[in-house]
Amino acid sequence: MKEYIERVNKAVEFLKSKLEATPKVAIVLGSGLHGIAESVENPLRISYKDIPGFPVSTAPGHKGELIFGKLNGKDVMLMNGRFHYYEGYDMKTVTFPIRVMQLLGVEVLVVTNAAGGMNPDFEIGRPMFITDHINMMGDNPLIGPNVDEWGPRFPDMSNAYDKELRNKAVNIAKKLNIPFYEGVYVAVAGPNFETPAELKMLRWMGADAVGMSTVPEVIVANHGGIKVLGISAITDKAVHEDLKPLTAEEVLEVANRTGEMMVRIISEFVKEL
Ligand code: HPA
Repeated sequence: MKEYIERVNKAVEFLKSKLEATPKVAIVLGSGLHGIAESVENPLRISYKDIPGFPVSTAPGHKGELIFGKLNGKDVMLMNGRFHYYEGYDMKTVTFPIRVMQLLGVEVLVVTNAAGGMNPDFEIGRPMFITDHINMMGDNPLIGPNVDEWGPRFPDMSNAYDKELRNKAVNIAKKLNIPFYEGVYVAVAGPNFETPAELKMLRWMGADAVGMSTVPEVIVANHGGIKVLGISAITDKAVHEDLKPLTAEEVLEVANRTGEMMVRIISEFVKEL
């Protein structure tokens, strides 16, 4: 753990030396959400590989950069390219950027992802505000020695997706006439999409959408006292009775178009913070 703490601190020191203002808001860009980077004014882009101590993405064609700048007048930090558990990163690596955000002074985290819609009433191509999550990844980023300066051994998760922030986002979506859902996100390890029997189980557990990310980041954010707004792009029908074959290309295509709505919501959301 000592080595990990040192790496986080090194990354934070480096970023502070590059920044005039440290942002209070960070946004994790999921699949299809990369377009939001275009809306950032005066962007300062820093590759993960240029940040001392920061993990690097090895997957070819994978984005890996932090973007600092103003979105709708507010200082923000974008994480463009996340580390997925299914790629083989351990949970500490997956959540390294969230620790960096915490130590930089981030107070609000907006996490986005692409997810399969398990609620049979859900239409694809719409955003879902995450009300809560279920961790079915079989691992947890907080396992191991607790760093007391970063957060408590047994963190509370009763408001993991902050109610007040969600209400604000819901009101914005209504004002902008963007259709949306609210629901529970369940995270699985992946990388395969689910079997019908798995979807039946996950639905029975009480989840509305399923994906392969977000939960580790949200656990660490809560541990570190960062408030979270979570938004899923519902990219496919993950309903066990009538499951069609699914490809990653279809997911990306729908995520890209849903992303446009999410960008509009998020831009307005950061302005109102
Ligand atoms: N299952 C898991 N992860 C996903 C899905 C899905 O159906 N769609 C997008 N990410």
